[in-house]
Amino acid sequence: MKQETGQVFVFPNPVALVAVADESGNSNLITLAWVGMASSEPVHVTIAVRPQRYSHDLLRSAGEFTLNVPSAEMVERVDYCGSVTGRDHDKWTEAPFTREDARRVSAPLVAECKYALECSVVQVVSLGAHDLFISRVLVAHADDSILDPHGHVDFTKLDPLAYVPHEYRRLTGETLYRYGQSLRDRKSQG
Ligand SMILES: Cc1cc2nc3c(=O)[nH]c(=O)nc-3n(C[C@H](O)[C@H](O)[C@H](O)COP(=O)(O)O)c2cc1C
Repeated sequence: MKQETGQVFVFPNPVALVAVADESGNSNLITLAWVGMASSEPVHVTIAVRPQRYSHDLLRSAGEFTLNVPSAEMVERVDYCGSVTGRDHDKWTEAPFTREDARRVSAPLVAECKYALECSVVQVVSLGAHDLFISRVLVAHADDSILDPHGHVDFTKLDPLAYVPHEYRRLTGETLYRYGQSLRDRKSQG
């Protein structure tokens, strides 16, 4: 029998390092798990950020950011970037992570992250505890080292983090099934 619960989750979540810069070029890093795909054409993503975060005001005024996907081996540094505030910490130096120029936005890319998106905010929806930044993806970057022979991102090579309350997991499980395989299987079973 199911019990009604006060615990509300959609999980697992991706773990991202979002970088955002102010008008003087100073930038900050924030770890986010409330991140999602929102549209495929034109491609949009969402990030949900509490108004109290230092990064929130930066995002509001810059209207653009980079969304960087860290690998599992960076977990300690990623957690650190989600545990201290850029108001009184230089997370680039303390984590540490390295800045790399982006192509279309003022915020830097995180050089260590092998997959990254450059994003422009198109709408901010205030929902209460969080503001949802609906953002258009301007550029997607994938390091050569995570591409398969067909030029597609190999998620095993990227080794991204998944967040389930309140811990980080690694996506090391085997592939269970392929997208759309059910139709092929049913057809072949007659
Ligand atoms: C795994 C993880 C996921 C997080 N996800 C979010 C999130 O989706 N939205 C949010 O507002 N804060 C999130 N946080 C909290 C911020 O990263 C944290 O408050 C950070 O210190 C804010 O940094 P800032 O003040 O420099 O912007 C998360 C933290 C961790 C560790």
